[in-house]
Amino acid sequence: MKKLLQISDLHIQPRITDTLLGINTEHYFHQVLQHAQQNHGPFDLILISGDLTQDPCPDSYQRILEKLQSYQTPTVCLPGNHDDWQLMQTILNQGLVSCCKHLILDDWQIICLNSQKDNSPIGYLNQDELSFLTNCLKTNLPALIAVHHHSLSVNSSWMDGMMIENSQAFLAIISQYPQVKVLTNGHVHQVIAENYQGMAVFSAPATCIQFMPQATEFTVTNTPPGYRVFELLADGQFNSDCYRIDEALTGLDTNLHHY
Ligand SMILES: [Fe+2]
Repeated sequence: MKKLLQISDLHIQPRITDTLLGINTEHYFHQVLQHAQQNHGPFDLILISGDLTQDPCPDSYQRILEKLQSYQTPTVCLPGNHDDWQLMQTILNQGLVSCCKHLILDDWQIICLNSQKDNSPIGYLNQDELSFLTNCLKTNLPALIAVHHHSLSVNSSWMDGMMIENSQAFLAIISQYPQVKVLTNGHVHQVIAENYQGMAVFSAPATCIQFMPQATEFTVTNTPPGYRVFELLADGQFNSDCYRIDEALTGLDTNLHHY
């Protein structure tokens, strides 16, 4: 059995003292990692599913790298709409931390996709990315696919406006490969656990601000940040659950409307 920790949407700011909607995202990133490690660790892999930074800059990625290195756990990072993919691949590429997109964990394969669309918060999987996916799936091991943006509606109109634009084409490819057991994303800052044609579809909550499920416009809640844990079993079965830290968000300004 392999144990995987998924964290997402860190939104780390340029300076350690900066806040986002009144909260210090860095503090909660640290708290989430600590809570996960203490209650469910050690992990065989940490997967970070995008939006590591709010306004990408070298300092933010450097501080993330240093924090991750202190856990001495293999870690892979994929980009979200807020990230600078070039910068990520340069800085988050040391020791056990990388932006590796395809790895084998004993009996499972982990496939990380880039759903960035140029100058847009919307998700898109271009032809190269879809070809990469098809290529990976030539390996006939149970697969967990991770990508920042969501592929199925979360019944939240403002958020669904940013889902993967060509998710139908993406899901049509996946449907041809029964070894794909799990599709998991970030971006939605809320917990998803669904089923699509026999495949489990999940999200991890953000490590910072949470969005109100089913909201028609940008709405934040003071629900504590959290993370998702996967147990990947040798026979292709798996277990997964989300957990939240015990500490509520302090300083959250719910009246601000600029995400
Ligand atoms: Fe995002």
